[in-house]
Amino acid sequence: VTPADEAFLRRTLELAERGRRTAAPNPVVGCLLVRDGEVLAEGWHERPGGEHAEAMALRLAGDARGATAYVGLEPCSHHGRTPPCADALVAAGVARVVIAALDPSPKVDGKGLQRLRAAGVEVEMAAGEVEAAARRQNAEFRTFHLLGRPHVTYKAAASLDGRTATAAGESQWISSPESRRLVHEWRACAGAVAVGSGTAVRDRPQLTARDVDPPAQRQPLRVVFDRGGRIDRATWDGVVARGDAGEELAALAARGVTSVLVEGGATFAAGLLAAGLIDRVALFVAPLVLGEGPGVFAGWAAGSLADAPAAVHLEARPVGPDILLVAELREV
Ligand SMILES: NC(=O)c1ccc[n+]([C@@H]2O[C@H](COP(=O)([O-])OP(=O)(O)OC[C@H]3O[C@@H](n4cnc5c(N)ncnc54)[C@H](OP(=O)(O)O)[C@@H]3O)[C@@H](O)[C@H]2O)c1
Repeated sequence: VTPADEAFLRRTLELAERGRRTAAPNPVVGCLLVRDGEVLAEGWHERPGGEHAEAMALRLAGDARGATAYVGLEPCSHHGRTPPCADALVAAGVARVVIAALDPSPKVDGKGLQRLRAAGVEVEMAAGEVEAAARRQNAEFRTFHLLGRPHVTYKAAASLDGRTATAAGESQWISSPESRRLVHEWRACAGAVAVGSGTAVRDRPQLTARDVDPPAQRQPLRVVFDRGGRIDRATWDGVVARGDAGEELAALAARGVTSVLVEGGATFAAGLLAAGLIDRVALFVAPLVLGEGPGVFAGWAAGSLADAPAAVHLEARPVGPDILLVAELREV
């Protein structure tokens, strides 16, 4: 896999993002068909039941004989709602396939690769940063298939000194309008949005994707985690989860939910962390100081520095006046 190949693979990752709101429970996938350095066609997967990225690129290219196909995820090998992409690539006469990451779902899991190679197609796998980026891009799909539960992102807004509310409990709004707009986009992409009962009682959050462009075609499932029965089911417009967090997450997966955006509060988040159920922390750090007040996690403490959950990957970027930290606590 050459640097030129890697550049084409990165383009497939960009294309894949076009399906971010709609592809679940399927993965987001992009595909590029290239011949003699010229891009013949680009494709991506938009929604379940719709064309796969490879099929779209092959349709748009018309003639793809002798081309190289770049794909973010291993081409599928099974008949689902659409025929296998590995077969379609072979039938189209594609000479070489360069893949960013393998598909860990039981129906594929290396079989797409085998099928291509058996048909005499040259197949190459990316490694290093491109592969890591491709895997991270489908963290939801991977977690869903490998761990049998949705991928969990805990999002919070904190002050410079790490407080998520004032000592009196006021938290709206610590982060900027720009950060809150980004959270609305995340909601538009999430299968479910969840809060603990404390936040539900105190803030009565709507948890809907409102401030997004284009407008959301569907809203995430709204879930409140409430073992103690503080929330009246009749007044909560969504799902009241009264059981163990791990079992409730598995139940969401059984309904096809591949991602959950947890929006606090700190007590609920600590419960999830202690149970090993947080995959990603997305923290908006706002440039103000609150002094006393709850932290990002409350009611739980690391036994020692050596035992402290640590990020396996960390990214930071400015969002308006805030800094967004995205920490992957687990990657599968
Ligand atoms: N800055 C921010 O980003 C942000 C975001 C959200 C909220 N907030 C602020 O945070 C405050 C509310 O936070 P909070 O800590 O009081 O409440 P919380 O974390 O929203 O809810 C805590 C409750 O969740 C329930 N729960 C259900 N499953 C749990 C589990 N597996 N582990 C732990 N708890 C579980 C527990 O009640 P049961 O034991 O009865 O189940 C617990 O008392 C408010 O002031 C709010 O404004 C800030």
